[in-house]
Amino acid sequence: MKKQTISVLGIGYVGLCTAVGFASRGYNVIASTHDAEKAAKINKGIPPFHEPNLQKLLEETVQNGLLNCLINQTETAVLETDLTFNAVGTPSKPDGSIDLQFIETSTYEIGKALNKKNTYHVVIVKSTVVPGTTQNIVKPILEKESKKLCGSGFGLCMNPEFLRQGSAFEDTMHTDRIVIGEYDKKSGDALESLYQDFYGKNIPPTIRTTLSTAELIKYASNSLLATKISFINTMANLCEKIPGADVKIVATAMGLDKRIGPLFLNAGLGYGGSCFPKDVKALIAHSKNLGYRLELLEAVESINKTQPLKAVQFCKELLGNLKGKRVAILGLAFKADTDDMREARAIPIINQLLEEGANVTAYDPVAVPIAKTIFENKIQYASSATACLKNADCCLLVTEWDEFKKLKPEDFTKSMKQPVLIDGRRIYDPEEFSRKMKFTAIGLGH
Ligand SMILES: NC(=O)c1ccc[n+]([C@@H]2O[C@H](COP(=O)([O-])OP(=O)(O)OC[C@H]3O[C@@H](n4cnc5c(N)ncnc54)[C@H](O)[C@@H]3O)[C@@H](O)[C@H]2O)c1
Repeated sequence: MKKQTISVLGIGYVGLCTAVGFASRGYNVIASTHDAEKAAKINKGIPPFHEPNLQKLLEETVQNGLLNCLINQTETAVLETDLTFNAVGTPSKPDGSIDLQFIETSTYEIGKALNKKNTYHVVIVKSTVVPGTTQNIVKPILEKESKKLCGSGFGLCMNPEFLRQGSAFEDTMHTDRIVIGEYDKKSGDALESLYQDFYGKNIPPTIRTTLSTAELIKYASNSLLATKISFINTMANLCEKIPGADVKIVATAMGLDKRIGPLFLNAGLGYGGSCFPKDVKALIAHSKNLGYRLELLEAVESINKTQPLKAVQFCKELLGNLKGKRVAILGLAFKADTDDMREARAIPIINQLLEEGANVTAYDPVAVPIAKTIFENKIQYASSATACLKNADCCLLVTEWDEFKKLKPEDFTKSMKQPVLIDGRRIYDPEEFSRKMKFTAIGLGH
């Protein structure tokens, strides 16, 4: 059977992993983006962001002609393929509600292209959008611009993505579940048959449902994960008031309970990145519009706002006045294995340190170029962890990179002016480190 052809709009983490994933299994994929610089990189086989395990397959699929990235050519992308995944960004507006401008403009472009197409085409919303968006915004734009009826003229699905940055490509290839929100059965059948062909016998559990249920599944999943993080962080803050308590052991023991599970129970400086903060805010705003206040998620969000500043508070407790003190920051990215700094915890921490008059030097294995666009010359950038620690009065561990996990107390004591370490991600053994230096960590009752 001839493989279906696929187009992808928006070539960020989700779009690019989707595109490379399908191309790596022999599908012809056409991507289209507004960003000429990104397209040029992709067509040379270079990922425009740091994501493990993506480079080699991107290079291969571009070289063998299965993946081609066009600039501003939604029409060609739609006309020459059978299905279009729309994976453009859906950022937050200043009030926290979802900004759908990229979805609207890309949908408008898809609709115009559908008007020129004589064969059945399925449009799949892959971006995270609040419940009702596909039915009430995407469908009317497609119908108006294509002058066709949804269902008979073209198909429409909502297929949320669950990948995690840092293992985005792996997650795309081995997702836990597929959720297909369908406008009608024909649309859902078309998408499910694509996934059946893609995964073969190993197709993950597949849920077929309405468009709005699919939209809500994504928000509900991210909101629960964010809730787990804020929950364990409140336990961490409580542990700090209980002599001898350690949140890491609390979390390990809790995680052994099958009803709870071990993941997303790492106490630390809170969640960041392009998804959890914006999705929690968007769901709060959306629900408020519907007349229901999501008090639980409001608390999750407010805990997450104050949590990173605990690192600065620890710093002041250990050093006193921070004016003129050299603070070394290990880790800038919002999590390990990515260079993404959207909503990274390092941002409020560094801003607060600067406000307190500290001199900040930071190191991250991959995020320094992005950090330079945020902090410019307000801080210094080191080329290694050791260089970052040199002559520092205090070190704040902000991102849990493997490279930092390998550091021993001596690596700190030999370089720092004062060996003071704050472990914001609970990667060091408190007993070992506190024997050799002034050490504190999130969630330790002293
Ligand atoms: N990053 C994640 O971990 C993740 C995981 C699951 C779901 N999501 C969701 O997927 C969507 C995309 O996220 P991302 O992180 O890949 O975004 P991103 O910001 O990395 O990329 C979005 C891309 O869309 C492009 N774009 C905007 N308008 C366009 C148009 N009209 N035509 C073509 N391209 C256009 C932008 O130039 C950008 O490259 C968001 O809704 C996000 O919430 C993201």
